[in-house]
Order: sequence, then C-alpha cells, then structure tokens
Amino acid sequence: MKVKFTETVIRDSQQSLIATRMPYSDFEDILETLDEAGYYSLECWGGATFDSCLRYLDEDPWERLRKIKAKVKKTPLQMLLRGQNILGYKHYPDEVVRLFVRKSAENGMDIFRIFDALNDFRNIEVAVDETLKCGKHAQGCICYTTSPVHTLEKYAEMGKELEAMGVQSVCIKDMAGIMSPDEAYKLIKKLKETIKIPVFLHTHSTTGLGPMTYLKAVEAGVDGIDCAISNFSGGTSQPATETMKYALEGLGYETDLDSKVLKKINDFFAPVKAKFLENGILDPYVMGTKTDALVYQVPGGMLSNLVNQLKSMNAYDRLDEALAEVPKVRKDMGYPPLVTPLSQMVGVQAVTNVLVGERYKNISAEVKAFLRGEYGRAPGEVSQDLIHKVWTDDELVKGRYAESLEPVFEKTKAELGKKARSDEDVLSYIAFPQIAEKFFEKREEKESNTVNYTIEKKED
Ligand code: CO
Repeated sequence: MKVKFTETVIRDSQQSLIATRMPYSDFEDILETLDEAGYYSLECWGGATFDSCLRYLDEDPWERLRKIKAKVKKTPLQMLLRGQNILGYKHYPDEVVRLFVRKSAENGMDIFRIFDALNDFRNIEVAVDETLKCGKHAQGCICYTTSPVHTLEKYAEMGKELEAMGVQSVCIKDMAGIMSPDEAYKLIKKLKETIKIPVFLHTHSTTGLGPMTYLKAVEAGVDGIDCAISNFSGGTSQPATETMKYALEGLGYETDLDSKVLKKINDFFAPVKAKFLENGILDPYVMGTKTDALVYQVPGGMLSNLVNQLKSMNAYDRLDEALAEVPKVRKDMGYPPLVTPLSQMVGVQAVTNVLVGERYKNISAEVKAFLRGEYGRAPGEVSQDLIHKVWTDDELVKGRYAESLEPVFEKTKAELGKKARSDEDVLSYIAFPQIAEKFFEKREEKESNTVNYTIEKKED
C-alpha cells in the first residue's frame, strides 16, 4: 500500500511555528528541489499566507502563487480555503467566492482543500462547485474536534454528505493535534467503510500524538498524510516528513519520497530556522510538546496567537487562566471546532473574559455576529442566555447567511479605480480592505522610487 505525502513547510508549518512570517525570498531557491521530492502535493497558499503577505511581508499573494507555480511544475499546488469566508474572517457573497476560486485556479492552484469552521457544509458548497467547474481537485474538509455532539456516526454522515457534493477526496483536519491514535484508527476505518473517495489526515505535533496518530491512520487505510520537513516540524507544526517516511517504509508501506532530495530540502531550511530563532519570531515555546492541549484543545496557530496577544498586553502570566477559559467559552458557543476564524473568536473572548474580570461584559463584534447566526449552524446548542444578551429572536439569521449578501465585486472594482491593477487586486481588497489599500500605496511608492533611481543612474 502506498501512502501519499503533502508537504506543509511553506504554509501550515510556518503558519503554526512563526505566524506565517516567512517571505517568498526565504524559500524561492528550494522550490525546484521541493518539486523533485515525490510529494503528492505542496501546500503553499491560503490559510493565513494571503493575509500575512499583504499585512507584514509587503508581498502580493497572487504574485507569490504565480512565482511558486513557475518553479513547481510537476507537484500539484494545494491551498486551504475557508469556504464562504474565502481567506478572511466573515462570509462573502457567492460571486466573490466563485471569482476567488476561479482566479486561484488561473494563477496556478490545483487542489482546493475547503472547510467550514462549523462543518456547516452549506458554507462550502459554492466553493466546491466552482472548483469542480474550473476542472480542479476539490477536497472536502471536516474539522475534527471532540465534544458530546461529535460522534463517529456524525463524522461518517459528514463524509457521506461531502461525497454526495462531488468532492474528489475528503480530509480530516485535526488542527489542534488532539486526535489520539485510537480515535484516528476508528475514524479512518469508519470513513473508509462509508465512502469510496480517498481520505487524507491532517494533524499537528502539538500534543506529541501526531506520528502515532498517523501510523494508526495508515493502518486503518488512510490515503495521505500532511507532514513538514524536519527542520520545520514538531511542536505546533506537523510531524516530520523524513520520520514518517522512515517509519512507514520500515513497515512495508510505499512512499514516493526520495531521501536524498528530502535531505537537501532540510539542509536548506536549517539557516532559515536559525534566523527566525535569532530574531525571536520563532519562540521555543511553540516547538515543545504541550499536553495541555489535550485538555484545552487549543490548535497550534491559536496557541501562538494567545501567547502573542497576552505578551503584547503584558499579561503573559495569565496564560493558564486564559487557557482554562477557552473550553468554557466553547461550550457556551455550541462546541465549535477551534479553527480559524472560530479559534480566534473563542481565544479573544476567553482572554477578554479573563482580563476584564467579568465574563461576556465585552463581546467582540465577531462573536456577536456568530451568535446572530452569520457564521452558520453551530454543531451543538448555543447558550440562549448568551444569544439574548445581544439579540432578539427577530434579529437572528434564518437560512444560509451568504444568500442575504449583495454582490460587491463590480461596485468595489469601480470604487478602487486605478488603485487596483487587476481583478486579483480587487479580491485582495475585498478580503482585507485596509491592509490591501496600504499594500497598494506602498507598491506605488516603491515603484516611483525605482523610477527615480533609474533616472539618477542614467545621469551618472
Ligand atoms: Co493545520
């Protein structure tokens, strides 16, 4: 039996370890080598990369995608798409979702891993449909979590629902790294018995369970796993690619991976890692094994965000309290899986509850929108007391929220005028208005500086 490997070093791995601060220039020179390693796919875009490119790295995320595609010609490129949220933190109208998918496909994306934070699949239908229309691979994604409402049967039903939607594969996304080897075995076995399409598993090493969980998933027949090259593996990132290859091949499983190429890739990332350790962006805290997550169910990205948030407020010493508040907020909100944007909403609300000293005295706009039903259906019962702290019954959303949203693309395009040079720019702006605008301004500045420089040079 063959096990497929997805490499996450330039997306989830660096998102989880260094809050997506790796510029394109840090990995440009290894892209052709990554293409030779024998990966099933290279996860390289989506998630927080889009936001981070515009906000911190002064990079056009679309240009990054095109540049990666130009160098990675054989290995399919993979992205993580938040369904109706695309890459932002709220729902967008269907036309925006469709155009975003189409433009991503045109710019080089091959595999669209599409999820909804609440597993409300009405919120991924449009993105899946458009991916299929573009002739690309739609991977329906189930966010894994444990709660009284998340049973094996419920997951099997979700798998069936996704298969019926027409996706080519299913991924179980264990963003918190809380899936135990036993749970993985039972869940993958159940899914393999229930659906015909390939099943992938995504986990993190946060709690130390990762490699064992993958091994049991492979024994249960999982088709592919997500790993990170060893220098960027472990902790809140994925289990190491080389380690999983070694262990699985020793047990008689096939992989398409080439050890010599993997070594080159890993050597390349050693100084990159050293740089981020030295400048403090890579905090050794996130590299360790944190078994607390088995209790708090806090995913890698969320854990590093919580640490950063508390540090910036000089309240790092309240981390334990904030972590203890997370499961309580989660119960009140109907057991949402802790994945973006729900993980941030729950995290910020938990920190606020702790720092303010009174629960729900301050409620963020996002949590208010969630309570109104703008994010979809929660898996469990949402606290009615909490809902009615903010909304009356008449104000609550009925049906699929995106259907109530007016088209915005043409209007935004007209408003932006020359500032936007392409439809891609308009989409960047729709997803992140303020940061995209700043990015456009900086881009203008940079280019006018370049022109001046050239003129001066000519006069020499
Ligand atoms: Co992840």
